[in-house]
Amino acid sequence: AAGRGRVEFRDVSFGYPGAEEPVLKDISFTAEPGRTTAIIGSTGAGKTTLLNLIPRLYDAGGGQVLIDGVPVDRLTREALSEAVAAVPQKPYLFSGTIASNLRYGAQGATDEELWEALEIAQATDFVRDKDGGLDAPISQGGTNVSGGQRQRLCIARALAARPSVYLFDDSFSALDVATDARLRAALKRSIADATVILVAQRVATITEADEILVLDDGRIVGRGTHEQLLETNETYREIVES
Ligand code: GTP
Ligand code: MG
Repeated sequence: AAGRGRVEFRDVSFGYPGAEEPVLKDISFTAEPGRTTAIIGSTGAGKTTLLNLIPRLYDAGGGQVLIDGVPVDRLTREALSEAVAAVPQKPYLFSGTIASNLRYGAQGATDEELWEALEIAQATDFVRDKDGGLDAPISQGGTNVSGGQRQRLCIARALAARPSVYLFDDSFSALDVATDARLRAALKRSIADATVILVAQRVATITEADEILVLDDGRIVGRGTHEQLLETNETYREIVES
C-alpha cells in the first residue's frame, strides 16, 4: 500500500440522518505515523462516530477526512480496507474458527503470522489451551469466548492485516490492568511505525499517548499531552479524576 498512514481531519462535521443536532463539529487534527493519538470524552461525546468516519462507515457531512493527503472518499474500498484496521467498541467474531476470524482482512496470512499477532495481543496462552488451537471453533458472535478474549482476538485480527492505521475503540477495557499494560508495551514495539488512534477510558492507557484530544459534545475542547492537559483543561481534569 502506498503512503504511511497519516490521518487528517479538516473541519469535519457530521450528523446522523434524521437527527437535528450534528454529532461532530469543526473537527480538525492530524494523526501522524509512529505516534499514538488518544481521544477521550464522556459517553456520547462522539468518539466512536469520529473513528467510524475513517473507514467510511459513515461519510463526513462537511469538511474532509484524508489519509496521506487523499480524501477517503476518493480511495477505493480495497485501498481503504488495506490501509485501516479498526477494532470496534463491541468486537465481533464470526462463526468459524479462530484462524478464519483472524484471517478476515488477512487472507494470505500464514499460521506463523497468526501466532505472531496472537502473541502481541496477549492471546497465545488461551488459544493454545483451546482444543484445536487455531482451528478451535468460534460460535456466531464469539459467545464461546470471554469478552476479554474476544477483544484480544479482534486486536490480533487487526494486527494480522498489517494496516498503516490502527483504530482502537475502547479496545483494552475488558482486560485486567496487567494484561492491558503488557499488550500496550507489545504494541509499541511491534507497530512502532503505524498511526494509532485510540479511544480509552483508563487513565494509564491515555497518559502515554503522544497527543490527546478531548472531545466534548462533538467538539475538540482541548489537545496536548497528559501533563499539558492536566494543567490547562478543566474538562480533561474532570474526566481523568472521575
Ligand atoms: P461512548 O462509547 O458511550 O463513550 O460514547 P461515544 O463518545 O463513542 O459516542 P458516539 O459517537 O457513539 O455517539 C455520539 C452521539 O451520536 C450520541 O448522542 C449518540 O446517541 C448518537 N449516535 C450514535 N450512533 C448513532 C446512530 O447510529 N444513529 C443516531 N441517530 N445517533 C447515533
Ligand atoms: Mg463509543
